[in-house]
Amino acid sequence: MNISIIGSGYVGLVTGACFAELGNRVICADNDIKKIAHLKKGIIPIYEPGLEELVAHNVKKKRLRFSSSIKDAVKNSEIIFIAVGTPALENGEADLTGIENVARNIAMNMTSYRLIVEKSTVPVETGEWLKRTISTYIKRKIEFDVASNPEFLREGQAINDFMHPDRIVIGVESKRAKEVLTNLYKPLNAPIVTTNIKSAELIKHACNAFLANKISFINAISRICDKVGADVKEVADGMGLDKRIGASFLNAGVGYGGSCFPKDVDAFIKISEKLGYDFALLKAVKNINEEQKDFILKKLKDILWIVKDKTIGVLGLSFKPNTDDIRNAPSLDLINALQTEGAKIKVYDPQAMEKAKGILRQVRFCQDPYEVCRGSDCLLIVTEWDEFKELDFAKVKKLLKRPFIVDGRNIYEPQKLKKQGFTYIGIGRKGYE
Ligand code: UGA
Repeated sequence: MNISIIGSGYVGLVTGACFAELGNRVICADNDIKKIAHLKKGIIPIYEPGLEELVAHNVKKKRLRFSSSIKDAVKNSEIIFIAVGTPALENGEADLTGIENVARNIAMNMTSYRLIVEKSTVPVETGEWLKRTISTYIKRKIEFDVASNPEFLREGQAINDFMHPDRIVIGVESKRAKEVLTNLYKPLNAPIVTTNIKSAELIKHACNAFLANKISFINAISRICDKVGADVKEVADGMGLDKRIGASFLNAGVGYGGSCFPKDVDAFIKISEKLGYDFALLKAVKNINEEQKDFILKKLKDILWIVKDKTIGVLGLSFKPNTDDIRNAPSLDLINALQTEGAKIKVYDPQAMEKAKGILRQVRFCQDPYEVCRGSDCLLIVTEWDEFKELDFAKVKKLLKRPFIVDGRNIYEPQKLKKQGFTYIGIGRKGYE
């Protein structure tokens, strides 16, 4: 099939490259001329395992190309995915300016039937607006369909998530749209959930909100564990084996970050408010997530007493491993709070340091975890990169000024570290500290 993806950000690029890999002819379009020029040279603006190779392979096979012209994209494809950003406005609502702009452009450049598919995460009822906007700006009577096909890609494993999805959700209002999308996804051999457009839009927000809910729930449990001397990992294991609950997204830690959960939780609270419903549960999810960082700062103070003039060695900047993304990363808030209290910061991250250099001030960026440890009063784990899991602890102990570890991701075994002479503070692991 001939497909175009408007918006060559994270979702757009992964989706475009994967559709090309499945044998379709894909145009990834973006109005950022510099980005398109880079992509044409094979320079990928984000770090995502396997993406660079996948793009190069499909460009070589002539199944994937890049364009800065929406006209070119609309003219040469029957299916148009909208994957532009929907950033948060100051009040938490999603900013749909980009979507509206693309819709107008599609309308003005359409010459025959097109299926326009929302891929970006959008508030319920955006599909209605898309239909109205396209009908308003279309030059003459041309048939078109709008559909919703939310993405469930996780950064760091997006290609695998695309190729092996748990399910594919398509929100459609015509037989034709249903057929086109069902055929497109047939090679993936995955269950397809077909709904109306509004349900599909809601599924996306409901999923992210529910997963955020799980994380805040286990973080709340971790606080109780700390108070009574239980271990949150054991509690999560005991809960997770219940098939109705499931083990995933029950890792207590520094709280969720990234470009999706914080933004989507805020947007969902706003959507509900607009619809006249007070989503109090989701407000609590958000609050617990915010408080989680204070909880960690308190843990640091519990062992250091005074933070001022102490050096804190931070391992991990990205909001989770296998990505260089630092959008809404808990590391940034934690570092800012520590600096405000007068602490000095040394930091290392395998991928995210370049991006962080543009944001963090007066931070010492180190070559590896050991350089971070040298002379630090405490080591703080913020992101659970694999390379932090297997450190040489004898060396770490020698390098640290004091053998203090605050493990914001519960990656270490408390008893093991205690045996090696560390004061180990995890999240909800009082039972073993
Ligand atoms: C999330 C969803 O998982 C995807 O399904 C969705 O497509 C995507 O948002 C999106 O809307 O585009 P992502 O933001 O890439 O994906 O990352 P996740 O793996 O979901 O992690 C989000 C945050 O939760 C991270 O900060 C992570 O560290 C945190 N987390 C996750 C925990 O603190 N504990 C857990 O048990 C799991």
